[in-house]
Amino acid sequence: MENLKKQIFEFKTKLKSSLKNIATQDQIEQVRITFLGRKGTIVSLMSAMKALAVEDKRIIGPLLNELKKSSENLLAEKKQELISQQKQEKNLHQKHFDVSAYKPHHLESSLHIYTRVIERIETIFISMGYDIADGPEAETDFYNFQAMNIPKNHPARDMQDTFWLNVPDMLMRTHTSGIQVRQMQKKGVPLAVVAPGRVYRHEATDASHDFMFTQCEGLLVDKNISMSNLLATAKTFLQELFEKKDINIRVRPGYFPFVEPGIEIDFSCPFCSDGCSVCKKTKWIELMGAGLVHPHVLQASGIDSKTYSGFAFGFGIERVAMIKYGINDIRLFHSSAINVLKQF
Ligand code: PHE
Repeated sequence: MENLKKQIFEFKTKLKSSLKNIATQDQIEQVRITFLGRKGTIVSLMSAMKALAVEDKRIIGPLLNELKKSSENLLAEKKQELISQQKQEKNLHQKHFDVSAYKPHHLESSLHIYTRVIERIETIFISMGYDIADGPEAETDFYNFQAMNIPKNHPARDMQDTFWLNVPDMLMRTHTSGIQVRQMQKKGVPLAVVAPGRVYRHEATDASHDFMFTQCEGLLVDKNISMSNLLATAKTFLQELFEKKDINIRVRPGYFPFVEPGIEIDFSCPFCSDGCSVCKKTKWIELMGAGLVHPHVLQASGIDSKTYSGFAFGFGIERVAMIKYGINDIRLFHSSAINVLKQF
């Protein structure tokens, strides 16, 4: 009887120490089998009780029943403890995947300002029925100059300082105007195209000049095309580009060998009515060269210049972007200056 009592007391201490370092539900189950299972300690204590006298059974019986109950409770508590511990660990782990977490120094990509402005310009001209055309950046003397009514040794060649290539009669195109002739030869007339693209000038750089920049050339050829078609097109384009209906244009004479008459088109400053830093207090901004296509250019393209006439214009895309977005140095466009580029 005394021996049994001792075993009953030891049972609890042993059970508690077995539960101490338990980490899984499987291990709890093992402990349950050892202590409370069908062949476990408690069952053997109960069968040992059978050999006792009746009055001893009355003492030991309730003790064993109480032991069984409290041991089952202990196991259930441990089970619960393990479950909540595992839940906590899972939560901690999940923090790795918190999509709303702040990540410092995170660089976002965005479209380059060139892409944005060119897409905008193209969209406007497409809405007016124009096609988009492209041409080679390494161009021949014929398309860049001769077909544009600029013969060899003509002083007009000095207007555009040229990067000549180590291949006879080849150069980096100085303007996208050569695409006029390529397009007329390829598609014939009537024709309406705009051609945005990179051009090269062999000149010193400063805040408003670069040795490489982007131009947009426009060409429309049909019967009865006159200066009024050109002016209406330029005005509509500028109103759409700056999203302002009251933009006006003014015209000055200009010389470009491939147009006759040649003009320069300025537009009224979209940012002020009485002079600001963008228009340099003049209320007008210079933008494009333009004119009616010279008959020599039509003839070089195989077009009957008696039946057909056309207009052409050209402007710098960086200049448009600089005015529209307030950029003060043309060299920033291809400088990889992330702090500038990421603003767009
Ligand atoms: N090609 C001219 C330039 O580079 C611009 C222009 C295009 C002028 C078409 C008139 C007509 O300056």
